[in-house]
Amino acid sequence: MTTDMRRKLVAGNWKMHGLSSDLAEIAVIAAASKRLPAVDVALCVPAVLVERAARAVPGFAIGGQDVHHAEQGAHTGNVSARMLLDAGAVLTIVGHSERRDAHRESDEEVRAKAETALACGLAVILCVGEPLEIREAGAAVQTVLAQLDGSLPRSLAGRPPLAVAYEPIWAIGTGKIPTGEEIAAMHAAIRKHIDDHYSDAGAAVRILYGGSVKGSNAPEIFAIADVDGALVGGASLKATDFLPIVEAAAAR
Ligand code: PGA
Repeated sequence: MTTDMRRKLVAGNWKMHGLSSDLAEIAVIAAASKRLPAVDVALCVPAVLVERAARAVPGFAIGGQDVHHAEQGAHTGNVSARMLLDAGAVLTIVGHSERRDAHRESDEEVRAKAETALACGLAVILCVGEPLEIREAGAAVQTVLAQLDGSLPRSLAGRPPLAVAYEPIWAIGTGKIPTGEEIAAMHAAIRKHIDDHYSDAGAAVRILYGGSVKGSNAPEIFAIADVDGALVGGASLKATDFLPIVEAAAAR
């Protein structure tokens, strides 16, 4: 992926979906994305599909959805950053709320994963986001900033690009999204935190919104200040759903 200063990035997260029969969908997405050079587009597919996807669409950014924090070792069932790279991936998601929740991943572990992935040469999308009760208690911003404090890699010097995805947990797969004001306030707070954390290097870090992004709401989401793209789950599985989101990003 390019490191241009905050071009929009639209990344799909296929989660536990995708078989060889879906490679044709990836080919359609890659071909259409090529015609929209103003936007960076990526698909994070199941680890076992990475190699076939990367071979099927040379030059298109294929990523993993998680990576182990160790470079190698006795970790049965896990996938390392070097394995993903070797299979043709150029990026990985770390710290998705589904992993933080189901696999009890701590901020510290997410930071270790991000640091190892970046050191091995993978771009990283690092996810943060609050549960509904925290949003309702008025503590969303402080909770997300605390997650960032605990999980952002310490240094970006000489590393591939880092993006942060703000994904309110209650908006993932539910069809609910925060108001434009809520997204704007959160992204502004994250932007400031990143700029303070990394000083000059922070300017290249993109902040994506994730959670029920669709073609119908993408134009208004991309119009919000400090939204540098989207991380898209359900609507990334089919080209007909995903490409309108990419087009909305290209139109900004
Ligand atoms: P969704 O998922 O677009 O299906 O809400 C987003 C995500 O979990 O990354």
